[in-house]
Amino acid sequence: MSTALASSTELRLVEHVARIAEEHPPIRLDSVDFTVKRPREFEARFGHVLDYMARVELEVDRNVLELTTMLPDPPEIDRHFYADVWQPQEIQHGLILDRLQVELGRESAEADLDSIGLKLKVLGALAHLSPFQDVCRMLYYLTGMATERTAVLAYNQLYRGTLDLGEDAVANTIIGQIKRQEPGHYAFYQISARGLWAELAAWQRWMVRLMRRVSFSPVGANNARQKADFGDVMTTLGIDKAPDDFAEQIARVEKELLWARDRGLRVPDYVSRAFHEAVELARARTHLPHLPR
Ligand SMILES: [Fe+2]
Ligand SMILES: [Fe+2]
Repeated sequence: MSTALASSTELRLVEHVARIAEEHPPIRLDSVDFTVKRPREFEARFGHVLDYMARVELEVDRNVLELTTMLPDPPEIDRHFYADVWQPQEIQHGLILDRLQVELGRESAEADLDSIGLKLKVLGALAHLSPFQDVCRMLYYLTGMATERTAVLAYNQLYRGTLDLGEDAVANTIIGQIKRQEPGHYAFYQISARGLWAELAAWQRWMVRLMRRVSFSPVGANNARQKADFGDVMTTLGIDKAPDDFAEQIARVEKELLWARDRGLRVPDYVSRAFHEAVELARARTHLPHLPR
């Protein structure tokens, strides 16, 4: 990418981050209403979805730790975004959703806040070599896109489901407020991913494709239990009926950038496989209730 193009990406990012910081301050606790008319019904239907989303949102603090390991020397706009804008918004999403589930009589989410996998540590060590840092950055943007797009779709479904149950206070003051903040995060990663992909050399692109293939997982699903939990979330939100449509929406830009050569490809196979696997694990667990939840 030419320097002019690179700096136009950077300019767009600077403007974008300034705008979301201005338009979307972290949600204040006193702006939400935890009133639930029929807590038992609401908990039975959506309790586990709240728990999953609360955990993923609260794990933002581990994500920041992972980021600083994986990207020891990030561009200033990335640092500004994740430290000053993104983290303060996401942590509020987590705290508010967690408080809601506690109000419904559930346990708090069990967020894993400090374990960084060996894989990331290795990446972090390699990232000190600058050409490799760009590979890591690209993986970070791709993960960010998939994560934020999942959040947008999940909160849309949860918002509708909550309204359908007549829980207007939760729908409008909690889910509605949270869901409005996610598209701005998605846009940040999308602009970044498009800009950086254009700058990568062929070997870096090859490496990104390879690493994506071996490491993709749905947001927050880091082991079999969490994958099954994610499958349950998909089922409750009605996404299990068309996992490939869901995968397609999650990975649209990733497909366009990484797999443009494979014309006619609907969705990268590792994305589709991951969502099918989550639904299958959840179904298997329903039939084998002795498995740990
Ligand atoms: Fe969020
Ligand atoms: Fe987000």
